Amino acid sequence: MEAHEKGFFTEENSVEVVTGRNKNARDERLKQIMEVVTRKLHEAVKEIEPTQQEWMEAILFLTRTGQMCSDWRQEFILLSDTLGVSMLVDAINNRKPSGASESTVLGPFHVKDVPELEMGANICLDQKGEDMFISGRILDTAGRPIEGAVLDVWQANDEGFYDVQQLGIQPQFNLRGAFRTGSDGRYWFRAVKPKYYPIPNDGPVGQMLEHLGRHPNRPAHLHYIIKADGHETLITHIFDPDDPYISSDAVFGVKESLLADFRRVRDSSRAKAYGFAGEFWEVEYDFVLARNGEGEKPAR
Ligand code: BEZ
Ligand code: FE
Repeated sequence: MEAHEKGFFTEENSVEVVTGRNKNARDERLKQIMEVVTRKLHEAVKEIEPTQQEWMEAILFLTRTGQMCSDWRQEFILLSDTLGVSMLVDAINNRKPSGASESTVLGPFHVKDVPELEMGANICLDQKGEDMFISGRILDTAGRPIEGAVLDVWQANDEGFYDVQQLGIQPQFNLRGAFRTGSDGRYWFRAVKPKYYPIPNDGPVGQMLEHLGRHPNRPAHLHYIIKADGHETLITHIFDPDDPYISSDAVFGVKESLLADFRRVRDSSRAKAYGFAGEFWEVEYDFVLARNGEGEKPAR
């Protein structure tokens, strides 16, 4: 009988002795996950060779991360976001067929059951910021318009805050709403140009970024969840390519295909038609949804 089968621990057999202990796990998937996690974790510890003090610092960091969590603050998700793990899990679970729009992270500021608005509505309820007209089509991968698709949009204001971060300062449902496409698959609405903003950085994840010489900012973006019967739901953003943080998003959410063209428009008759006072921004972006089952699933 080998040492690890007796359950006796050595530096060399650490993985086998721990994973062997899980042989009666009730769930095969859990057993497989813990085998991989144990192997990779022990490998990291063997490579790093932490001092006892360093290991305690790691434990205390994770402790503070848990203590920071509340009903409205999920510090572990921020940790996963800033380590690129959220984007990796998203990529694995949203392999799209060719031509379909790419996904990105949901983020913590989505609000369920927002009001469905008339096409063209202005989602900016406090008249603050630079006017913007956003339009495009929702298509399937064959280029056909999707009728009855629901586009749920939310964005930060021109100071980089979501309405839910400024209760009592911004009106409820400011800069968010849902729009339903007609038979041409078109959507259009009015809003304001978003600005970059920091992810919540007053906790351990913010301290970690500071120690690593990283900033906490996300480049300016609009969030979307797009749903249509018979199609895979798309959770994504569009980004302003001229944003100073476009190449260093704190949560790695930027993909090249999600860069939109934010154009400055000087056209008084169009401005008047939209109810804008003068110059405005314009963004046109088509979203392409995969049909149910059209995308490649994780190999399991
Ligand atoms: C957001 O874009 O809303 C977001 C995403 C990840 C972490 C924090 C904020
Ligand atoms: Fe955001």
